[in-house]
Amino acid sequence: MLETIKGKTLVISGATRGIGKAILYRFAENGANIAFTYNKNEEEAQKIITDVEAKFNIKAKAYPLNVLEPETYKDLFLKIDEDFSRVDFFISNAIIYGKSVVGGFAPFMRLKPKGLNNIYTATVLAFVVGAQEAAKRMQKVGGGSIISLSSTGNLVYMPNYAGHGNSKNAVETMVKYAAMELGEFNIRVNAVSGGPIDTDALKAFPDYEQIKAAVQEQSPLNRMGDPKDIAGACLFLCDNNSSAWLTGQTIVIDGGTSFK
Ligand SMILES: NC(=O)c1ccc[n+]([C@@H]2O[C@H](COP(=O)([O-])OP(=O)(O)OC[C@H]3O[C@@H](n4cnc5c(N)ncnc54)[C@H](OP(=O)(O)O)[C@@H]3O)[C@@H](O)[C@H]2O)c1
Repeated sequence: MLETIKGKTLVISGATRGIGKAILYRFAENGANIAFTYNKNEEEAQKIITDVEAKFNIKAKAYPLNVLEPETYKDLFLKIDEDFSRVDFFISNAIIYGKSVVGGFAPFMRLKPKGLNNIYTATVLAFVVGAQEAAKRMQKVGGGSIISLSSTGNLVYMPNYAGHGNSKNAVETMVKYAAMELGEFNIRVNAVSGGPIDTDALKAFPDYEQIKAAVQEQSPLNRMGDPKDIAGACLFLCDNNSSAWLTGQTIVIDGGTSFK
């Protein structure tokens, strides 16, 4: 258990599955209290609460959130204020899929403004409003750590990924600006960028099996990424004993694939 994490509060979006869920468990096992969001899977959210509260003796609460409506973060944080006495860490993780990415998750010639705008809203605007609300609370406790998830689809070509790759570039730039302006409050802001990680989001790609085979072949570690690989980097970025002078950066966790 990390003393720098124990008793602190993590707010994380989209923690019912995949990477978000792995991050939630990594922080809970280190003694953090957790405020997390779900979109459709309320039942799974309740199961997670029961499990982590019993296993790790921490407090966990789940709240509905739609990242296509970033302004709703304001009310969400007011609810979090009622349930938790402090906010120390914020991780913008949730990602949209399905109907809302039509025209955004597509080959270049089929891209449409609405789909692209939805991805930008969910990735960049949700990060901005969530991080603003989190930073106000972090200032009251002397600092904190803010993280946006990103993806190496902005470094290497992935079919259909122009909309996401472009918005991940944008959020990495937003992270740098936030880092410059929040440093005076001892708030660090970074991005964690993953190569292909085996989650539902990736399984939704039509070429999932090809991506998996290619990643296994490209990575010197001969495997795809696991959500736990990303969770470790997030814990590191919130642990002041490990990363106190690290801000405005993107940590790339790609199993070595981007260099091949
Ligand atoms: N998988 C990869 O290969 C990979 C690689 C690099 C970076 N990333 C990034 O890592 C993050 C998590 O991805 P993942 O693969 O773990 O995704 P995932 O397994 O598909 O989980 C998505 C999460 O987002 C929530 N969500 C879905 N629609 C939402 C909405 N409209 N508003 C709010 N929340 C919503 C889901 O909640 P419900 O379950 O309640 O629907 C779920 O908790 C994303 O930012 C992604 O870009 C992923």
